[in-house]
Amino acid sequence: MIHYFLILLFPLVVFGQWGTPPPVVTDQQCQEEYHKIHGCVRTPNFSYVDDIPLRDPNRTQELVNEITHVLDCSGFLNCNSSRILQSFFFNQRWVSDHFDATLSNCFTQEAEWKIGKQCGYWEDDGNCNRFNKTSLKCYTTELQKQPNCTWKHVKPFVRFYWALRSTCVMAHQWKLEMDRHHIKVKRIGDLFNPLAID
Ligand SMILES: *[C@@H]1O[C@H](CO)[C@@H](O)[C@H](O)[C@H]1NC(C)=O
Ligand SMILES: *[C@@H]1O[C@H](CO)[C@@H](O)[C@H](O)[C@H]1NC(C)=O
Ligand SMILES: *[C@@H]1O[C@H](CO)[C@@H](O)[C@H](O)[C@H]1NC(C)=O
Ligand SMILES: *[C@@H]1O[C@H](CO)[C@@H](O)[C@H](O)[C@H]1NC(C)=O
Ligand SMILES: *[C@@H]1O[C@H](CO)[C@@H](O)[C@H](O)[C@H]1NC(C)=O
Repeated sequence: MIHYFLILLFPLVVFGQWGTPPPVVTDQQCQEEYHKIHGCVRTPNFSYVDDIPLRDPNRTQELVNEITHVLDCSGFLNCNSSRILQSFFFNQRWVSDHFDATLSNCFTQEAEWKIGKQCGYWEDDGNCNRFNKTSLKCYTTELQKQPNCTWKHVKPFVRFYWALRSTCVMAHQWKLEMDRHHIKVKRIGDLFNPLAID
């Protein structure tokens, strides 16, 4: 219930944080906002070897705490590029929590590889079309064949799957906005860099 609510909330967060229409902003302002968010990241050592889900409860907790800190610290921002990045973090935090709570025993690395062999791996296709209903059907069918999974994992998996798609869409939107405002991206741990997603 709360999960659906959060997912439905994302577009609102992106396109009008707390109902405020985005004011006119300059490229310079958006660059400064980007620096502000960047400056809030205390542990930039979440690197590309990690991936969401992290599949390590302690690392996940560390990441969840760090994202919470970054969101608190960066606060209300005006540029779409900033809001999309914050929504991206928000989504990653939800995915991490949700995965740990519902899927970590079932959708192991081993299970992911086996299912990927049948249904296609989540490789970059330049857009987010690899997340589609046909592919999801294959994933949920194969998921139930995995040793540690039951039908009870299907619903959490479906939510996980669409949240991953949101991550992908936000990463693309963010890239467009960053280009539009000519914002220079700083080196940072990959989990805080949507460009590393895609
Ligand atoms: C990340 O950095 C923190 C603080 O420097 C350190 O405690 C932690 O062990 C590091 N984690 C990894 C995976 O390198
Ligand atoms: C996670 O943290 C707890 C408490 O700090 C520790 O006892 C446990 O060994 C850690 N687990 C892993 C997998 O690192
Ligand atoms: C932010 O995004 C919204 C929705 O796409 C758009 O209507 C608005 O013009 C954008 N604002 C700026 C400042 O680009
Ligand atoms: C099933 O769960 C066990 C214990 O958590 C784990 O060691 C094993 O790798 C899992 N099997 C698969 C195929 O994910
Ligand atoms: C759906 O996703 C699969 C792999 O995830 C991909 O091969 C296929 O082309 C996608 N279908 C569409 C219509 O994009």
